Amino acid sequence: MCGIIGYIGSRNAIDVAIHGIADLEPRGYEAAGLAYVQEGKFQIEKRLREGLGSQTVHPSEQLRLWLDHGDATSNMCIGHTRWPSHGDNTLNNAHPHVGFIDRIAVVHNGTISNFHVLREELSGKVPLRSQTDTELVVHLVARELEASQISLAEAVRRALVHVEGSYAFLFIDRTQPDMIVAAVMGSPLMVGLGDDEVVIASDASAIVRITKRIVDVDDGEVLVIRASGIEDSSHVERISELDPHDIDCEGYDHYMLKEIMEQPRIVRAAMNYGGRINMKRGMPRLGGFRDFSGALARVEHVVLVACGTAYYAALIGKHYLQKIAGIARVDVMIASEADLSNVRAEGSVLIAISQSGETFDTKGVVDEARSRDIFTMGVVNVAASWIARATNCGVYCGAGRETAVASTKVFVSQLTVLYLIAVRLGRMRRLSRPDGKRLLKNLKALPDILEDLLEDELVETAQWIAQNIIAPSDFVAFIGKGMLYPIAMEGSLKLKEITYIPSEGYASGELKHGSLALLSTTRPTVAIIPSDDTFSDVLTAVMEAARTGSPIIVVVQESQKDMMRQILDEYSTSTFDSFQTMLVIPDVPDYLMPIAAVLPLQLLAYFAALALDREIDKPRQLAKSVTVG
Ligand code: F6R
Repeated sequence: MCGIIGYIGSRNAIDVAIHGIADLEPRGYEAAGLAYVQEGKFQIEKRLREGLGSQTVHPSEQLRLWLDHGDATSNMCIGHTRWPSHGDNTLNNAHPHVGFIDRIAVVHNGTISNFHVLREELSGKVPLRSQTDTELVVHLVARELEASQISLAEAVRRALVHVEGSYAFLFIDRTQPDMIVAAVMGSPLMVGLGDDEVVIASDASAIVRITKRIVDVDDGEVLVIRASGIEDSSHVERISELDPHDIDCEGYDHYMLKEIMEQPRIVRAAMNYGGRINMKRGMPRLGGFRDFSGALARVEHVVLVACGTAYYAALIGKHYLQKIAGIARVDVMIASEADLSNVRAEGSVLIAISQSGETFDTKGVVDEARSRDIFTMGVVNVAASWIARATNCGVYCGAGRETAVASTKVFVSQLTVLYLIAVRLGRMRRLSRPDGKRLLKNLKALPDILEDLLEDELVETAQWIAQNIIAPSDFVAFIGKGMLYPIAMEGSLKLKEITYIPSEGYASGELKHGSLALLSTTRPTVAIIPSDDTFSDVLTAVMEAARTGSPIIVVVQESQKDMMRQILDEYSTSTFDSFQTMLVIPDVPDYLMPIAAVLPLQLLAYFAALALDREIDKPRQLAKSVTVG
């Protein structure tokens, strides 16, 4: 959960590395550092994150100030931005680390699992200056170089024989400042090829400002990279789809708000990616299905696997697959808890849902499914990521880069893609053409509806509620039912992630079984009111909550607004003494209600975090993609 960058070429490599560190910062932002060579000596600069909330000065900003006030230049540099996995957040633990013979420096993304064994082996033999796993590896490489006259790449190969875990390393040698050696196992790394310049990074966002020609480094590879490219390479290049505009905040104060506001466009993008809607046949065209139609038509058991927000998308995906596609057996597993022992290879498909395509827990389940010969499909946002490459087939979300740590637009694109998959699987089974057409027509109308939803009135109401009701509270309950229960959990996750206010998402019927005891006048309840016949069940839970004095906020569709107002007014004069208000969203068909309902919840979280002066895009203790177990 760190980011690494390296550059060799005619530009000032230090400047490129600092830009790269800033672009990679969502992957970890507690510390950053860089190393370059000047007059045959290593120059190392490291910074820690300072300040809180809007006063936070990120490590990349501090490095930028240092560069702008000095005259450091170099044609080669490596850099790192850190989410601490081994050791505290100190300058000693920040990367780069230098080997004991002071010839090799390294930056690392990943975790070394036999860290304790290596530490014991090296203790007392070399000076250990940090608590990190990474430092041990650079000493192992230095030991190989000291022992025999071999190249750096060979020393890296020999050292890595002793190393277990996941890694992407960039090594530099101060005696050869025109070369970077990269080594990969289970962590993303790509090389951007420019005109007599290369930029190597753990994420394309740090590359595309310089070049869109990208080569993915595979597990087990140790590469020697110079400005002219990768030595002895037969790698296949691809052109990154990442738009450099995606990397900018485009006038918004935070990426999270930009990404919330982008969602109508994101639903369109998920629908149109390669022209997915075939209205005539009432059947989505999904490239990933092309070669596997036969196998997918016979699927009897679907297992959806994901973590966090993507797991909530999976829970809604289960409703789609059962009700739209007519697949009776659908299981949803949290990746870190997944158990495939009862999944037969015959007739099953495992769908891994992941924004990054690099999440450690989800990758582990895909790996196990492959070893059990279970057919795998990826619903992934980042093109050419590990899960995208490792699965038998896949459907891309096409949402572009999501920068804010809290996922918003990709959640909505995951729901759109799962809906398309359900319609497609349904049409390959018993879903009629008219029903397929109706479902696709509903989806096509959604982006315009979401645009209306994000008009000023709802945004202003959400901001008022967030500032006045949510931000001052010490606990918030979210309640929903059916497909809207995962939305309640997602609304709660968004809130706790970026405001740090304790919160839970409940199935509305569960509140009275214990958690009702938590509610009080300082602890609001946000209820998502369904438009189907479960309406009254959720209303019952709203009344239970209101009797505790909990301020009530209901998310309700336009056509139910008057009835809801009447109910709330009636009860407020008689039974409740609590505050009640509504967030009104446009009418949408039931299957699409999860998408429409999540938007106001994202806004509540965003504006509450703003009112509390939190670090919205880079919340404490988190990072964008969780590549450790
Ligand atoms: C929450 C959030 C996380 C991710 C989870 C899975 O806002 O972003 O819960 O959804 O870590 O990440 P991916 O989708 O990259 O596998």
